[in-house]
Amino acid sequence: MKHFIDTSEKSSKELSKLIERALYFKNTESHPTYPEFSVAHLFYEHSTRTRVSFELAAKKLSMTVINLDPSTSSEQKGEEAQDTIKTLVAMGIRCFVVRHVQEGFPEMLADVCGDRAHIINAGDGTHAHPSQAMLDLMTIVEEKPDLASLKIAVLGNVRHSRVAHSFQLACSLLGVGDLVMVAPEIWQPKTLQYGRVTDSLQEGLMGADVVMCLRVQKERLAGNEHLDLAHYRQAYALTEKHLALAKKDAMVMHPGPVNCGIEIDREVVDGPQSVILRQVQNGVFMRMAIFEHVLGKDVSR
Ligand code: NCD
Repeated sequence: MKHFIDTSEKSSKELSKLIERALYFKNTESHPTYPEFSVAHLFYEHSTRTRVSFELAAKKLSMTVINLDPSTSSEQKGEEAQDTIKTLVAMGIRCFVVRHVQEGFPEMLADVCGDRAHIINAGDGTHAHPSQAMLDLMTIVEEKPDLASLKIAVLGNVRHSRVAHSFQLACSLLGVGDLVMVAPEIWQPKTLQYGRVTDSLQEGLMGADVVMCLRVQKERLAGNEHLDLAHYRQAYALTEKHLALAKKDAMVMHPGPVNCGIEIDREVVDGPQSVILRQVQNGVFMRMAIFEHVLGKDVSR
């Protein structure tokens, strides 16, 4: 059964095909419809763009969409998630989009479902967020297709970022030339999947073609990982002055939600180099491609 738990489980060919297909959906008016499939969205953690994006993608493909609110579901009566999912599978739901604070939760559900349903990971703890990584790469490829020639800087709270984790793996598979994580030591990743790390903003941003800024993920910081934000801002925030270190046409990205005045400035978010809303726009098309991929409908292309 095909799932979408992390980018690492896919081949570089599969990832390239996802980008190609998502760009095709974006650039053409027509797309297939899969009314015979139902998808349930199980979001145990807050979300705006990812949940709405998956919902829109499914609706564009004419799938039946069920939005289950865990705070009002039978899990509040003590039912375990694995029994909830077995119940929904019994009703004929074939696809589940799952977000949870616990790392490995989507994988656990994939084991429970066996070959009866497809699980798509919409973010599990600090582990993975593969659909975000893929829409980010789609957005980059759309503007700068030669990934091998690019320097991409990922700036900020990398250690706790599931986006950065899945992005590193995808960059490795797709052959990004130079991927650099720019973060103060305490926010550097404990294990690096691909690329290099620096605590020097100058070194990290100098000559970058893409600067991806990450949210300061306060809710995920352990006691000793809290930094003085004023100090952090001075050294690492994506201000217009700091952005000037990168190439003049560097793309400014952020997975959102954006905390203006903390990790990035309003002028940069709304500035001419920002592609933050294009990331959001592209997300719908990438998620259509992901649905099609897990459903095995991409084989005949
Ligand atoms: C991210 C997430 O939830 O992992 N946002 C998103 O899905 N667009 C990033 C974050 O929380 O900072």
